[in-house]
Amino acid sequence: MKNHVWRPLYIALALVAVGLVARYLLVPPDFGVHERGYMYGWHRKSNEKEWEAVRVKYRTGRSCIPCHRDKHDDIRNSPHAAISCENCHGALLDHPKDPVSLEINRSRSLCLRCHARLPYKASLRGSIKGINPETHYPQAECMMCHYPHNPKRPNPKREVRS
Ligand code: HEC
Ligand code: HEC
Ligand code: HEC
Ligand code: HEC
Repeated sequence: MKNHVWRPLYIALALVAVGLVARYLLVPPDFGVHERGYMYGWHRKSNEKEWEAVRVKYRTGRSCIPCHRDKHDDIRNSPHAAISCENCHGALLDHPKDPVSLEINRSRSLCLRCHARLPYKASLRGSIKGINPETHYPQAECMMCHYPHNPKRPNPKREVRS
């Protein structure tokens, strides 16, 4: 065969060789199809152990009832009934082992992520009652006037304070 045929062929063979070497060096040895077949087995075997070791961070609202029944009862019949405690209070797996370290988020942005008015009526988020944060008492914490565990009611805690 002529040289102008061989030369590109060498380059093609070299590229295949580089690919095979790269695969050998980069793909972990336990990657591939395992006992559960192609659909569920196409992964790194040791990754199964890694997922088993992932720590769950959330405890769910039900776990709060024994110690905070009052908050649970307040929220249950309120417009916030669907919101999980940990949606506002954060992941609490280690609570109450260390209650002092639990900081309550009292920022306006906690509430505004759901209540800043959105004009997109087609989305569920847009159908939540919204306020304009720039005109709705911009200097005040929402909790001054709204009780987070039942936002239809004034905040009992703040009434006592003022
Ligand atoms: C075994 C009892 C227990 C459980 C279960 C429990 N807590 Fe608590 N919690 C406490 C204690 C004790 C405190 C500290 C005293 C207090 O503020 O009442 C506390 C305080 C808090 C505080 C106030 C922290 C502060 O800075 O004032 C929040 C918020 C809270 N818990 C939320 C929750 C949520 C949400 C859950 C469920 C995921 C939960 N707790 C589960 C016992 C518990
Ligand atoms: C919509 C957000 C939101 C949800 C949902 C929520 N909380 Fe709170 N929670 C707050 C805020 C904000 C405060 C601080 C209130 C204040 O300073 O007046 C608070 C305060 C608390 C406190 C401190 C004690 C007190 O009287 O202020 C406890 C305990 C608590 N929440 C438990 C719970 C539990 C249990 C649930 C679920 C049943 C829950 N919260 C759901 C926002 C929320
Ligand atoms: C995860 C989303 C979410 C968060 C966070 C949230 N809310 Fe709500 N809120 C809702 C939903 C959903 C409703 C009930 C549907 C509606 O009123 O449009 C509601 C209802 C309300 C209402 C009653 C409106 C009415 O008159 O019927 C007020 C007031 C309110 N929330 C204030 C707050 C405040 C204050 C905070 C912060 C502590 C807060 N919300 C955090 C979703 C949220
Ligand atoms: C100084 C008191 C005060 C503060 C602070 C305050 N609100 Fe209100 N909010 C009210 C009053 C009063 C109403 C009912 C009358 C009205 O619609 O203006 C209301 C109504 C609402 C409604 C219902 C709107 C509707 O269409 O029916 C939502 C949602 C709401 N507030 C969320 C918030 C959020 C979120 C914050 C913090 C970013 C906040 N509010 C801060 C007093 C307050």
